Amino acid sequence: MKDRLEELRTEGLQALGAASSLSSLKASEVQLLGKKGALTTLLKGVGALPPEERPLIGQLANQVKKAFAEKVASVSTALKEAQIAAELDSAGFDSTLPSAPLTLGGAHPVQVITRELEDLFLSMGFRVADGPEVELEANNFDALNIPADHPARESHDTIWVQEAAGETPGLCMRTHTSPVQIRTLREAGAPLRVIAPGRVFRQETQDATHDHTFHQMEGLVVDRGVGVPQMLHAMNAMIEGVFGKHLKTRIRPGYFPFVEPGFELDAQCPFCEAGCSVCKGSRWIELIGCGLVHPKVLKKSGVDPDIYSGFAFGVGLSRLAMLRYGIRDVRWMLGGSISFLSQFSE
Ligand code: DAH
Repeated sequence: MKDRLEELRTEGLQALGAASSLSSLKASEVQLLGKKGALTTLLKGVGALPPEERPLIGQLANQVKKAFAEKVASVSTALKEAQIAAELDSAGFDSTLPSAPLTLGGAHPVQVITRELEDLFLSMGFRVADGPEVELEANNFDALNIPADHPARESHDTIWVQEAAGETPGLCMRTHTSPVQIRTLREAGAPLRVIAPGRVFRQETQDATHDHTFHQMEGLVVDRGVGVPQMLHAMNAMIEGVFGKHLKTRIRPGYFPFVEPGFELDAQCPFCEAGCSVCKGSRWIELIGCGLVHPKVLKKSGVDPDIYSGFAFGVGLSRLAMLRYGIRDVRWMLGGSISFLSQFSE
């Protein structure tokens, strides 16, 4: 029995080594190791051996089995490699040719500015919050002191989300990042310092300065004794952070129902000397809306306006990017043109 096993090992390894294709390898494997294969058939005789010989034979049989399995694996790998090499060869593949140059992606201009502002505000003790792009009408408008009949709603051409049966009514694509004020105030209460960058959506007729989708960043500070000086300080820090000291700005009264008093901060148009299509001939471009949080908004979010006050701002990140990089048309921002975007990759 021992000699026959040794013999089978030699023959079997030879047969497996001689296989010229994966299918002939498989056939030899079955012939040797299959249910009706040579090894199995041989081992059926073990029962007839004297008991003291059985363990030795069993051990040897295992070694032979293992040797076969290893041979099958190594021959199979070699055959597969040879097959791939043959295919590449017949396809005319030349691995020595130089590859096409690698192009690295870069951050989008809005992303660059968002990251810079996040760093800046984090250094001033703010945290970064996020909110949903599909927002409750109640958060996007009502809680911000913009009830249904308020004319300010008309300036936000809202994209309404059709209600699916059984779903929460009154959903819209958020028209600004201000609802994140409401969410964070309700959740964390006062005192609070938070910024919330994100996408907003409006049913706009597109032109050089308007798109249906753009980026804003909301800021909110609520604490004891917060007033206009703190707000102006934060606005200046933001503008200097993005533009250095050179951008000319002006601040004027502005109306937003959720702040009182409210302001608008404009930057001087960098595209012209005497009025152009970007600034609509005015020489100024609106950049930031800001003001002191309306007591009604604080109250609606569970904060006592007799103890706390705050300032809020909403800045157009897309506008900041346009001004900083001299991009004349906001539609290029989300246009997906590689030749436009590649100008900003580092
Ligand atoms: N949410 C306003 C808009 O998109 C911008 C804004 C104005 C935000 C004044 C504010 C603010 O937080 O105080 O038109």
